[in-house]
Amino acid sequence: MEKRVLSNGVEIPVIGYGTYKVSEGHDGVQAVTDALKAGYRLIDTAALYGNESEVGSAIEESGIERSELFVTSKVANGDRGYDSTLRAFERSLELLKLDYLDLYLIHWPASEARFPDWKKINAETWRAMEKLLEDGKVRAIGVSNFMPLHLDALTERASVLPMVNQIEYHPGCMQPEVVEWCNQHAVLVEGWSPLGRTRVLENPLLIDLAGKYHKTSAQICLRWAVQNGVVPLPKSVNPERMKTNLDIFDFTISEEDMNLISGMLPTGESGLTPDTINF
Ligand code: A2P
Repeated sequence: MEKRVLSNGVEIPVIGYGTYKVSEGHDGVQAVTDALKAGYRLIDTAALYGNESEVGSAIEESGIERSELFVTSKVANGDRGYDSTLRAFERSLELLKLDYLDLYLIHWPASEARFPDWKKINAETWRAMEKLLEDGKVRAIGVSNFMPLHLDALTERASVLPMVNQIEYHPGCMQPEVVEWCNQHAVLVEGWSPLGRTRVLENPLLIDLAGKYHKTSAQICLRWAVQNGVVPLPKSVNPERMKTNLDIFDFTISEEDMNLISGMLPTGESGLTPDTINF
């Protein structure tokens, strides 16, 4: 698996497996087991997904060397703040049955619209992330769904800048201001819902390009993200689709076609933003 390098030198696979759809119980363990068998080495979970225990069991049963894996989790919105973030991290680690994480993220920023002291809350949560990094409990730290105003505010008080910002990213949803901020500050962008939760797969341009490159429109979306330097995190509970979503390294989308995709009108967005989420 090809890798990218984070600002602190840690390597991260160029594509990962998103576990948001992975359920509790046996089916959940099976899905992650299938993903590891398909070849995914970056596994992206979150306390909010309620499946860390299943992810941990699949990792344990896989027998894959820990150093071969890149495991990400995220602190839930209800656990923002210094002490509660440290506690939440230990809980995640225990559920995952691991002794360190590769990447720990703040799942959503406290937003201006909902929290008068949002800057302070995010700064305190971030201070805990820095402590976890310093203590060697995580190899890298970052944020998710942070917009430039959240990133600017964080930068004012942070000792260490985030290494990653995980945002919604797919054709029709490129969040250019966020990506530009990240590029300027050496923050790697990860893309959630890189297939627009299937909403963009029937787009005529993507279907047309799929025919041209003898690929599926899902593979076009993922390859486009990778060529843009974004690490996509597709979700699937179907072993065949897990595999085809990884089969994107035997072709290159031309610059002209990359521009056509990047020029798509806004489409397929989830509508989830820091100001509108209610969890
Ligand atoms: P399934 O689990 O049945 O494969 P996103 O990652 O953008 O949020 O999209 C996830 C959704 O896309 C899931 O509903 C998943 O369903 C579906 N999906 C994943 N891979 C593919 C694919 N290659 N072709 C079509 N649908 C896919």
